[in-house]
Amino acid sequence: MNLIKEILLDTNHLNKDGIRIHNDDDLYEMRQSCKLAAETLDMIGNYVEPGITTEKLNTLCHDFMLDHGSKPATLGYRGFPKSCCISVNHVVCHGIPGPKRLKENDILNIDVTCILNGWFGDSSRMYVAGKVTKKASRLIEVTHAALMHGISVVKPGNTFGDIGAAIQQFVEGNKMSVVRDFCGHGVGRSFHSSPNVLHFGKKKTGAVLETGMFFTIEPMVNLGKPETKILSDNWTAVTKDKSLSAQFEHTVAVTSEGVEILTLSPKNKFFPDLKA
Ligand code: MF3
Ligand code: CO
Ligand code: CO
Repeated sequence: MNLIKEILLDTNHLNKDGIRIHNDDDLYEMRQSCKLAAETLDMIGNYVEPGITTEKLNTLCHDFMLDHGSKPATLGYRGFPKSCCISVNHVVCHGIPGPKRLKENDILNIDVTCILNGWFGDSSRMYVAGKVTKKASRLIEVTHAALMHGISVVKPGNTFGDIGAAIQQFVEGNKMSVVRDFCGHGVGRSFHSSPNVLHFGKKKTGAVLETGMFFTIEPMVNLGKPETKILSDNWTAVTKDKSLSAQFEHTVAVTSEGVEILTLSPKNKFFPDLKA
């Protein structure tokens, strides 16, 4: 009797597709770690300018996360050497911060993941060093809108294919391409879990969304072709054709109402100021 009751009350479990279903206490914890990721990204925006090294930006993110009682999840993750990923211009993702200085017109993605009280909050945004070119600004706008289109179809009963289809349709409608080689992921008490959240696909395919799922949506969009290659450091992914690439990432929770975006910017700075 007791045992059956416990099982029935245990809402924290893997569903039939192997996707973890979380409860309200988990959502409370996730809100804190995701908020800290968003605050880190708000903070770092004040320092992005021509002349600064990506190493310096990394140190600022690292110190901020530690000062706020969290750990950077990327540091030492599968051997990744830094506390955030910084991907400049034609770098698609997983750029390693280093001594390179930003220059006028550079566009960059900064991706941070905080571990706070054991919960992972994962988010990334685009930033610009100085002024931005017309084509870069269009790329950044389309990529952000693509993420929001994906998020807009998140609700119980819809599918992961619906998310991918919404993103792909919007990006390709704007004559840009969606990267196929990297995807979003389940997130929570671990960094990367089931499912793979593809940013392309067909409506009404894939696993069905359920209240209590936590995952990221993080489309990478290229001005040119979708193909990528990995540099000899075994991390940095670049566009094969050297075209510019952009990415935005939110961690979201599926709720009975639809969706809660957990990594919204407290200062409403998620989208960069695009100065021509
Ligand atoms: N934060 C990245 C993501 O969105 C993962 C970075 S893993 C690293 O999933 F090792 F490259 F840092
Ligand atoms: Co992610
Ligand atoms: Co990330």
